[in-house]
Amino acid sequence: MIPKKNYLKHAQDVSLWIQDYFQNIEKLPVKSPLKPGDIYKQLPENAPIKGEAFEQILADVNKIILPGITHWQHPNFHAYFPANNSVESVLAEHITAAIGAQCMLWETSPAAAELEQKMMEWLRDAMGLPSHMEGVIQDTASSATLAALLTAREVKTNFKSNEEGVPNNLRIYCSAATHSSIDKAVAICGIGKKNIVKIPVDRNQAIIPEALEKAIIEDLSLGKIPCAVVATLGSTSTLAVDSLKDLSAICTKHDIWLHVDAAYAGSALLLPEYRWMIEGAESMDSFVFNPHKWIFMQFDCSAYFVKNAEALIKTFEILPEYLKTRTRGLVNDYRDWGIALGRRFRALKIWFVLRSYGIEGIQEVLRNQISFNDYFVAQIKERNKFEVTYPPFLNMTCIRLKPKEKESLASVNKRNELLINAINDAGNIYLTQTKVNGVFMIRVVLGQTYLEKHQVDLALNELHGYF
Ligand SMILES: Cc1ncc(COP(=O)(O)O)c(C=O)c1O
Repeated sequence: MIPKKNYLKHAQDVSLWIQDYFQNIEKLPVKSPLKPGDIYKQLPENAPIKGEAFEQILADVNKIILPGITHWQHPNFHAYFPANNSVESVLAEHITAAIGAQCMLWETSPAAAELEQKMMEWLRDAMGLPSHMEGVIQDTASSATLAALLTAREVKTNFKSNEEGVPNNLRIYCSAATHSSIDKAVAICGIGKKNIVKIPVDRNQAIIPEALEKAIIEDLSLGKIPCAVVATLGSTSTLAVDSLKDLSAICTKHDIWLHVDAAYAGSALLLPEYRWMIEGAESMDSFVFNPHKWIFMQFDCSAYFVKNAEALIKTFEILPEYLKTRTRGLVNDYRDWGIALGRRFRALKIWFVLRSYGIEGIQEVLRNQISFNDYFVAQIKERNKFEVTYPPFLNMTCIRLKPKEKESLASVNKRNELLINAINDAGNIYLTQTKVNGVFMIRVVLGQTYLEKHQVDLALNELHGYF
């Protein structure tokens, strides 16, 4: 029997804890200042033999766990890309956890399957993605990209690779600016990293279409098989955008799978003024973006869209007796749409956020943050200590301390590295770096759900407050 009284009391305690966390997060150091082993050594050698009081466990969350958390929801977190939540998605995740459904098949929770189908349609249409695409929620963009390359591999080899193994002459094209998850997927899917062709990029880090076509033609002349092109909308280092229009035309001409990695910047398609990013790309084969990055639907929530769902399913389906159902073929059994069999009920948080904010509400937050970025860039230029190293885009800007006269690259890199370390050690804001063509840069992403202007000012002051 469930101890109902205790449950309600503890649930209330946790709700109060969460409320307090949201309200007071800004008082915490954004990046955990702890050293390796600091948490581990506070934990008992063995699991407790007898159960402990809930109050004690919650007290230890504050005492032991919280100091070792880097607060991704902190408004002064400007590192990496955000992994935003929102009050609404947290509440949805409470219900998902309570239901605890394992949503591998339609039958194992019809509501989860059908809500997932509808949420993917809502997102697709709100973003202006081609209406023939069908979507599925994956845990991460890395998994979606792996699914894309596995499907591309099967399509290119007439679904023989799953049976017989992978030929060693399939080729994957991307650029040095594409995310490392592509290299990983190529390795895992058996195509082999040696078959990745990194296409040269222009000064804004976008793939040069002519160079792509040249590489494809060269490969064809050598008897290699062009399998997939991975284009990026919003590269991790600098938010570079590949020309889908050009890449799509090349892929159509040479019958090559076009996978689009829009993990971060894809959310901007909710704003009609950014739809130019997918113009001319109606024929793309697959597209992934992470609602869990910028539109407050909290990790893990990666939306993966495909042109040909049948090919995806054919790549992943297996049908042991214990998974057979009478509804097979009539419904979406999402276990066939990706790698994992077991699946969380992730669609609920999308539903909660979309309904609570409405598309207009989300657009308002995104536009607001983009305008914060404009302000940030204007201030950086005015104060004249940093240079903007790549064209700022959406809500991200790459900067570095201006080189002194005749200063070597190594020296200016070092100064920027020391600066970012000093800022992060102070703990008021959190920033991360990247390096492109040997140039060390500080990436500033202004993307926290509840970000306000005074926090942008704090970031500016921190950047200008050390040496
Ligand atoms: C452009 C891009 N693609 C893919 C990924 C990988 O995302 P995930 O952590 O969801 O696998 C990232 C992560 O930041 C990214 O920036």
